[in-house]
Amino acid sequence: MKIKVSAPGKLMLLGEHAVVYGYPCIAMAVDKRLYVTAEIIDSKGDETIAPQVKESRFVLEAIAKFKEKYNIKQSVRIRTNGDFSHNVGLGSSSAVTVATFKAISEIFNKSLSLREIFDLSYEVNLKIQGVGSGFDLAAATFGGTLYFIRGGKVIEPLGNETLPLVVGYSGTKADTPFYVRKVAETFKRRQTEIKDILRKIEALVISGKKNILNRDYKNLGKCLTENHLLLQKLGVSIPKLDAMVEAANKAGAWGAKLSGAGGGDCMTALVSNDKRTAVEEAIKKVGGEIINVTNNAEGVRIDQ
Ligand code: PMV
Repeated sequence: MKIKVSAPGKLMLLGEHAVVYGYPCIAMAVDKRLYVTAEIIDSKGDETIAPQVKESRFVLEAIAKFKEKYNIKQSVRIRTNGDFSHNVGLGSSSAVTVATFKAISEIFNKSLSLREIFDLSYEVNLKIQGVGSGFDLAAATFGGTLYFIRGGKVIEPLGNETLPLVVGYSGTKADTPFYVRKVAETFKRRQTEIKDILRKIEALVISGKKNILNRDYKNLGKCLTENHLLLQKLGVSIPKLDAMVEAANKAGAWGAKLSGAGGGDCMTALVSNDKRTAVEEAIKKVGGEIINVTNNAEGVRIDQ
């Protein structure tokens, strides 16, 4: 038996870094997907063919964890391929982990709930990366737009709207663990100030959630831009991302911010239809690359 499963990539809308400290964030699943094909093989060891992901460690750890849980001795072959490169920061490692659990649970006839897939994936993620809120795994597992608290303490779907976003890639890969550590170090030295920033981010996430549910994109846009300014204060933005955000806002976006750990990867801008082209052009003019993604994508699913 052979099965093909896919899980979506992600973007952070609001609340990155603060989410690591127990505050909420808003995460989104995007329509670029990572595909995993799994089959049981007659071989002593597992085989992984994972050219698209940074490390096949995520696949191997997921297989090991699953086999241990169900005391499985047979071997599996996993192949991955994807709609996106791991360079853009859309979460190929998280999508591949989630899709691997789904695929092997299907071939071994063990039904795992979405919650179980998320929890197992989060364990793998913590084992390999040591840090992380798990927001990316929640997006890959459940899809849609989610209000999320670290470790899946809260995973709340926020309606069914596709947000009108433009996504621009900065051209550099972000080093997420580096920036998470950087904020942690600053936190140790300047606790009161950093806590104040994190609480302000929390307030924006809470307003942002209301704005999403009310489809108030004008005010949601303001939350994005204010969140970007707070991320600058946290010291995680870079001139290129700042330039892209500023260009988007000048071209008429409702608001814009970097998305993710900072230091590179993507920014996103919330735009009305009539401003979309102008915003895209403005981002390109300062050296950004437009990534064609839509949000509100379906979570992990069986494709074949
Ligand atoms: O760099 P990304 O897109 O993986 O986002 C990181 C977001 C952080 O809040 C900084 C870390 C986390 O795990 O939530």
